[in-house]
Amino acid sequence: MHLPIILLLIASVSAGLLFRRQAVPDPICLQIAGNITGNVYYNPADSNSTSSNNTTPNPFTLAISHWMSSSSQTPLCVVEVNDANDVSAAIKIIGSTKTPFAVKSAGYNSNPGFSSTTGVHISLEKIKQVILSEDKSAVEIGLGNSFTEVYQALNGSGVNVLGARADGPGTGGVTLSGGYSWYTNQYGLGCDTVVSYELVLPCGDVTTIDTSQPDLFFALKGGLNRFGIVTKIVFKTIPQPGHIYGGLQFFDPATVPALINATEAFHLKSQDPKASVVLTLGGGILPGAILLSFYDGETRPADFDVFNGFNATFSTLATQDFSAMISGSLTSLQTGNRGSFASVSTTTLTHTLLAAVVNETNYWTQFTANRSGSLLQYDVEPFHAYGKFATDSAYPHSDSPLPLNIYYAWTDEKDDAFWNDAIQQSCAHLIEVARAEGILTEGSVYPGYAYGTTTGDQLYGKENAARLREIQKDYDPEGVMLLAGGFTI
Ligand SMILES: Cc1cc2nc3c(=O)[nH]c(=O)nc-3n(C[C@H](O)[C@H](O)[C@H](O)COP(=O)(O)OP(=O)(O)OC[C@H]3O[C@@H](n4cnc5c(N)ncnc54)[C@H](O)[C@@H]3O)c2cc1C
Ligand SMILES: *[C@@H]1O[C@H](CO)[C@@H](O)[C@H](O)[C@H]1NC(C)=O
Ligand SMILES: *[C@@H]1O[C@H](CO)[C@@H](O)[C@H](O)[C@H]1NC(C)=O
Ligand SMILES: *[C@@H]1O[C@H](CO)[C@@H](O)[C@H](O)[C@H]1NC(C)=O
Ligand SMILES: *[C@@H]1O[C@H](CO)[C@@H](O)[C@H](O)[C@H]1NC(C)=O
Ligand SMILES: *[C@@H]1O[C@H](CO)[C@@H](O)[C@H](O)[C@H]1NC(C)=O
Ligand SMILES: *[C@@H]1O[C@H](CO)[C@@H](O)[C@H](O)[C@H]1NC(C)=O
Ligand SMILES: *[C@@H]1O[C@H](CO)[C@@H](O)[C@H](O)[C@H]1NC(C)=O
Ligand SMILES: *[C@@H]1O[C@H](CO)[C@@H](O)[C@H](O)[C@H]1NC(C)=O
Repeated sequence: MHLPIILLLIASVSAGLLFRRQAVPDPICLQIAGNITGNVYYNPADSNSTSSNNTTPNPFTLAISHWMSSSSQTPLCVVEVNDANDVSAAIKIIGSTKTPFAVKSAGYNSNPGFSSTTGVHISLEKIKQVILSEDKSAVEIGLGNSFTEVYQALNGSGVNVLGARADGPGTGGVTLSGGYSWYTNQYGLGCDTVVSYELVLPCGDVTTIDTSQPDLFFALKGGLNRFGIVTKIVFKTIPQPGHIYGGLQFFDPATVPALINATEAFHLKSQDPKASVVLTLGGGILPGAILLSFYDGETRPADFDVFNGFNATFSTLATQDFSAMISGSLTSLQTGNRGSFASVSTTTLTHTLLAAVVNETNYWTQFTANRSGSLLQYDVEPFHAYGKFATDSAYPHSDSPLPLNIYYAWTDEKDDAFWNDAIQQSCAHLIEVARAEGILTEGSVYPGYAYGTTTGDQLYGKENAARLREIQKDYDPEGVMLLAGGFTI
C-alpha cells in the first residue's frame, strides 16, 4: 500500500520541476509554433502577465481539461491545430524528437494519459466543421466537435448520425472506440457507418482511409489513438425526420429488484429495434437506478410497457428533439470529479448477473463515506442483435456483445489508488459471475469503457490484436504513436 503513495510523491515532485522549467517556452513547442498556422499556448500559471486570472478560463486551461479531473495533466504547451497540415507538422517534430504527446477530442476518456500528457498536448478544438452533403446522405465532421455539437448542428435537417447517448463525449474518442448509439439496434455501431477517415499517419502523411485501405479502415474501428491522428470523419447519415420519445428517470432503491426484472424482460422480449434503454444501477451518493429510454418515433412504444407502473422520483421523459434529449442528460453535473471506468462484455443478461451488479453497488457503497466516494454506477445496456450490422472492425461485435460500463467517481486525489483498485476488483468479480453463468464474452472489452491496463487480446480478441500489431509495425515502425498514452495492443 505504501509503494503507490511514494510513486505519487515522486511523480508530483517531477511534475513540479517540469512546471518551473516551462517559464522559458520549451524549444519543441517553439519549433512547432513556427511550423503551424494554429496557436500554441503556455501555462498561464507560469506567466507574470496580469491579463490572465483564475476567473476567466483561458485556452490553455480549457484545452487540457477533462470530464474527469483525474484524466488531466499539465503539458509543456497546448498546440491548437487548425487542420491536418498542422497536425502533420506537429507529429513530424514530435516523432523526430521523441517527445511525449497527447491528442484530445472532447476529453471524456477515463484513463489518465490517454488524452493528457506532460509533453505536447494537441488540441483539436478548432476543427469544428459539420458539413452535410447536398443530398444529405453523408456528413463531414471535424473531430474537435463533441457529439452534442454535431446533433445541435444537424437539428432540423431531417438526418442524424450515430454518436454518444449523453451530453459531452467527443466525436474522436467515441467513434474511434466503436461508438454505441441510441440507433445501434437499427444500424450497428458508429464505426459501422463511417464512409472515410482523414488520418495523419505517424510519419506525417495526410491520407484518406476508406474501404480501399482495408487494414487501417479496420484498425480505426476500435483502435483509438494507436494508428495516427484523425482530423475528420465522413459518416453516412440516417433519417431523423421529427421528434423522438425519450429521456431519463430516477428511481429510489426500493424499486431496484423489480426494475432489474423489467430490464431482463425488456431484453428477452423487445423486438422493435427503434426501442433502446440503458439501466444505471447506482450506489454511493445516488443509490437506486436511472433508466435512460429512447424510441426512434414520437410516442411511447409497447416495448416499454414492462417499465410502466414504476414511479420515478425525477423524469425528463418526453417527446422532444433528439438534440434536446441529449443536452438534457445531466452529465455536466458530474464534471470535475475524479473517476475511472472498467468494463466487461456478456452474451446476454441473466438474473444472477444483474443481482450480482446490485450487490456490487451495495458492497462498495460502504466505503464511500471514508474514501471521498461520490457515484458508483453500473450501466446495463440491453442491446438487440446489432452485430448483423458489424463491418470489419478491430473491436469485435458481430456477436452483439453487451458492454457493462462501471463508473466510479470520487473527489480526493489521495483516494485514487483505493478506488482504482476497487473498480478493478469489482470488475473482476463480475467477470467471474459472468463466466460461471456461461455468458462471458472474451476478447471484446469495449475500448470506450475499458480500464487503462486492459490488454489488446482482452479488447480485440487474439486474432484481431495480432492483426493490429502487424498494422502498427507497417505504419508506425518507429512507435511514434506510442509516445501518446493508450492501450498496449
Ligand atoms: C458521460 C459519458 C457518456 C458516454 N457515452 C457513451 C456512449 O453513448 N457511447 C459510447 O460508445 N461511449 C460512450 N462513452 C465512452 C466514450 O466513448 C469514451 O469516454 C471516449 O474515450 C470519449 O471520447 P472523447 O473524444 O471525449 O475522449 P478524449 O479523452 O478526448 O479521447 C479519448 C481517446 O481517443 C483518442 N482520440 C481522440 N480523438 C482522436 C483523434 N482525432 N485521433 C486519434 N485519437 C484520438 C485520445 O487520444 C484518447 O486516447 C461515454 C463516456 C462518458 C464519460
Ligand atoms: C516573473 O517575475 C519574476 C520576478 O519579477 C522573475 O524572476 C521571473 O523571471 C518572471 N517570470 C516570467 C515567466 O516572466
Ligand atoms: C480576469 O481577466 C479578465 C480578462 O482579462 C477581466 O475581464 C476580469 O475582470 C478579470 N477578473 C478579475 C477578478 O481580475
Ligand atoms: C519547420 O519549418 C521550417 C521552415 O519554416 C522548415 O525548414 C523545417 O523543415 C520545418 N520543420 C519540420 C520538422 O517540419
Ligand atoms: C424478480 O425475478 C426473480 C426471479 O427471476 C423473482 O424471484 C423475484 O421475486 C422478482 N422480483 C420482483 C420484485 O419482481
Ligand atoms: C405510483 O403512484 C401512483 C399515484 O400516486 C400510486 O397509485 C401507485 O401505487 C404508485 N405505484 C408504486 C409502484 O409505488
Ligand atoms: C431544433 O430545431 C427546432 C426548429 O427546427 C427548434 O424549434 C428547436 O428548439 C431546436 N432544438 C434545439 C435543442 O436547439
Ligand atoms: C457481494 O459482493 C462482494 C464483493 O464483490 C462479494 O465478495 C460477495 O460474494 C457478493 N455477494 C453475493 C451474494 O453475490
Ligand atoms: C471509517 O472511518 C472511521 C473513523 O476512522 C472508522 O471508525 C470506520 O471503521 C471506517 N469505516 C470503514 C467502512 O472503513
